[in-house]
Amino acid sequence: MGAADGKRGPILCVVGARPNYMKMAPLLDAFSARTDLPGAVLVHTGQHYDWLMNDQLFRDLGLPPPDVNLEVGSGSHALQTAEIMRRFEPVVDDYLPSCVVVVGDVNSTLACSLVAVKKQIPVVHVEAGLRSFDRTMPEEINRLLTDQLAEVLYTTEPAAAENLTREGIAPEKIHFVGNVMIDSLLAHLPHAVPAQATLAKAGFPVGERGFGLVTLHRPSNVDEPGALTETVEILEEVSERLPLVWPVHPRTRAHLERFGLAGRVAIPAIALLPPAGYLEMLGLMAAARVVLTDSGGVQEETTALSIPCLTLRDNTERPVTVEQGTNTLVGRNRRLILSLVEAILAGRGKTGRRPDGWDGHAAERIAAHLAGWLARRPAEEPFTRVAP
Ligand code: UD1
Repeated sequence: MGAADGKRGPILCVVGARPNYMKMAPLLDAFSARTDLPGAVLVHTGQHYDWLMNDQLFRDLGLPPPDVNLEVGSGSHALQTAEIMRRFEPVVDDYLPSCVVVVGDVNSTLACSLVAVKKQIPVVHVEAGLRSFDRTMPEEINRLLTDQLAEVLYTTEPAAAENLTREGIAPEKIHFVGNVMIDSLLAHLPHAVPAQATLAKAGFPVGERGFGLVTLHRPSNVDEPGALTETVEILEEVSERLPLVWPVHPRTRAHLERFGLAGRVAIPAIALLPPAGYLEMLGLMAAARVVLTDSGGVQEETTALSIPCLTLRDNTERPVTVEQGTNTLVGRNRRLILSLVEAILAGRGKTGRRPDGWDGHAAERIAAHLAGWLARRPAEEPFTRVAP
């Protein structure tokens, strides 16, 4: 199908979980706009599979149905990663791709990179070099290893190149291109579902005070009863000042119920919503007074939207959102969170600025670079030599 019949193999583009989709959508558009690139083939690992976590985002982003769906579903990290590898290998054999493009830091990103590199297919990593320096996060392991395997590393912010260089990645492999997630945000913002419509559907009255938006799904915040109880108590206090809207990730929903906390969060103070679509989420973020989150993507999106963001973590792999954007790391520090919410409601929240390269054109820059890179790359020299 690929190089075997004398043509250049396609670009295999991998997605697996929700945060991958908004990164891949602009890349697929940018790849298909260029005649000097081979065609793209979209592979979905099936890490996320249900309508709320998957199909409604595909619909909102205008993503085509995947060419290949590996349908791996949920499981432990080892099982999920291994199963993706087992099912991805025949796809690589079948397509003989020119390269495999992976985005972000989910299990699918690492699993498919490992398969590709062992078959001497170059891996292209979009959103490379981000580091939380917290190896208890599964995503940090995925980032570190994917970047070691990748042949071309596209970065979103200045700290990434420093991290990669320190880890011994050759500087010529690293390319600052900006942020494809913000490409999606800027393209879709005009079509965002107004927050009032989403909230009216949920039976949540928005008064003059407006609302705060909550998203939480990191294992460190939601997997353990003590941490989740503490978080819910903080949200209860915040909701006395500002009503909160919380589209709940399935793992968080399951734990709220298991730990007997679901009954404590209720309209009118806190509205639990099902996982939001992309266009609903954009509308909610853009209209929120403040966003409380532990998501990586939401830290970036709020910076792009100039909405104050309180990140319930002790670290971030996206320091530019703190240094230049609207983000503040608050952990589960109740007093800090309450005082920052007061300041934001008094009009003293961070406004920040949009970082360089977060301009809606990152995917075009990647496509242009990749076209040149693939054209220059000699077929008999698959990998850059690694210095001993
Ligand atoms: C994964 C990513 C994380 C990303 C997040 C976005 C890894 C290591 N983690 O975490 O980086 O921020 O996706 O959501 O790859 N579930 C459903 N429906 C689905 C998918 C999952 O109900 O479509 C439930 C399952 O019960 C599953 C749980 O959610 O056990 C967690 O899903 P999983 O893919 O294991 O990890 P996430 O927490 O979503």
